[in-house]
Amino acid sequence: MDDVLQQLKHDLEAAQDSKQLEQVRIKYLGRKGVITTLAKSTDFGRLSPEEKRSFGQRLNTLKSEAERLLAEATARIQALEKDRVRRIAGLDLSLPSIDRRMGSIHPIALVQMELEEIFQGMGFRVLTGYEVELEYYNFDALNIPPDHPARDMQDTFWLDNGMLLRTHTSANQVRALETYGVPLRAIFPGRCFRNEAIDASHENTFYQLEGLLVDRDISVAHLIAVMKTLLSQVFRREVTVRLRPGFFPFVEPGFELDVQCLICGGKGCSTCKQTGWIELIPCGLVHPKVLEFGRVDPQIYSGFAFGMGLTRLAMMKYGIPDIRLFNSGDIRFYEQFPTAF
Ligand code: FA5
Repeated sequence: MDDVLQQLKHDLEAAQDSKQLEQVRIKYLGRKGVITTLAKSTDFGRLSPEEKRSFGQRLNTLKSEAERLLAEATARIQALEKDRVRRIAGLDLSLPSIDRRMGSIHPIALVQMELEEIFQGMGFRVLTGYEVELEYYNFDALNIPPDHPARDMQDTFWLDNGMLLRTHTSANQVRALETYGVPLRAIFPGRCFRNEAIDASHENTFYQLEGLLVDRDISVAHLIAVMKTLLSQVFRREVTVRLRPGFFPFVEPGFELDVQCLICGGKGCSTCKQTGWIELIPCGLVHPKVLEFGRVDPQIYSGFAFGMGLTRLAMMKYGIPDIRLFNSGDIRFYEQFPTAF
C-alpha cells in the first residue's frame, strides 16, 4: 500500500492537464483501478480475521488519502489551465479595467417614457403615426381647409409629392379614430417639424405628445382631471392649473392650459415672466367635425384632445435654458442624464 501511495503521488505530480489527471484517477480509483482491486487480491482470502480488519482499515485510509491527493492535484491543474488560457488570450488581470462608457438617455426620451407610463396607468394606449404625412390628416381632417388662415400658424415643410412633414401630432387624431373606432384613449408622442426661425425656445424639429380620449359624455371636467393627474405625477407635487380660451380649429371649446409657476409658486419670477403662470398644454373638446371625419357620431360621442410640447416639458423638468441643446450633438449635454430609465 505504501508503494501504491508513492506511485500515485508520482503520477499526480507528472499530470499536466485535466485529461492526464483523469487518467490517473481511473488508474487508481476507477472500477478496475489499483486501489479498488487491492482488496480482491488472491491473498486476502487467506488472512486471519484480525489481519483482514487491519487490512481493511489501511485500505480505507489509503482510499481517503488518495482522494485527498487527487482533489489537491485537481485544484492545481485547474489554476494552471486558467492561467494558460489567460496567457493565450493575452489577459493580464493586474491591468486597470477598460473604461466602457454607458450611453445616457436623451432627456426628451426620458420625459416621453415617463409620460407613457403615467398615461398607460390611466388606460391610454401609446400609438405612433407618420412623420411624413398626408395634407388631409395634418390639416383638412382637423377642420383646417386649404384656404383657412390657421394653416399660416404652422409654417410647413412641403414635399415635392404633395405630402408634408407633420407640423403637429394632431395629425394622428383622425387616423386613430378611423383605425380603432370609439371608445378610444390614446397618446401619440412624436417628432414634428416647422419652418421656424430658430431661437432659445423654437426649433424646426421638436417633439409633441398628443392625447385623445373619445367616449360617451366626456366633458371639460375629465380633461382637467387627466391633466392635473398627469402634471402632479410629472412634477411630483400638487399643481394648480387654469384654462384660458385658445383657438384651434379642431377643438371647441379650445383652451390654453397654464400651470402655476413651479419655481416661484405663482408670485412671479423670470421663468414665468412675472405672470405667475406658465403656458403648457393647448387642449379642448374634440370638434364635432373632426369626429365626423373620423366616422364617429358627435350626437353620441364627445371627447377631449391635447397637444403638449414634449420638448418644452423636458426643458421645464430639467431646467434646460436653450432648446438648441437638444439637437446639438454636444456630448457634454447628453452625459448629464441618466443611463437607465
Ligand atoms: C398645436 O400644435 C396643436 N396641435 C395642439 C393641440 C392639440 C391643441 C390638441 C388642441 C388640441 P401649438 O402650435 O401651440 O399647438 O403647439 C403645441 C406645443 O408644441 C407648444 O405649446 C410648444 O410647446 C410646442 N411647439 C410648437 N412649436 C414649437 C417649436 N417650433 N419648437 C419647439 N416646440 C414647439
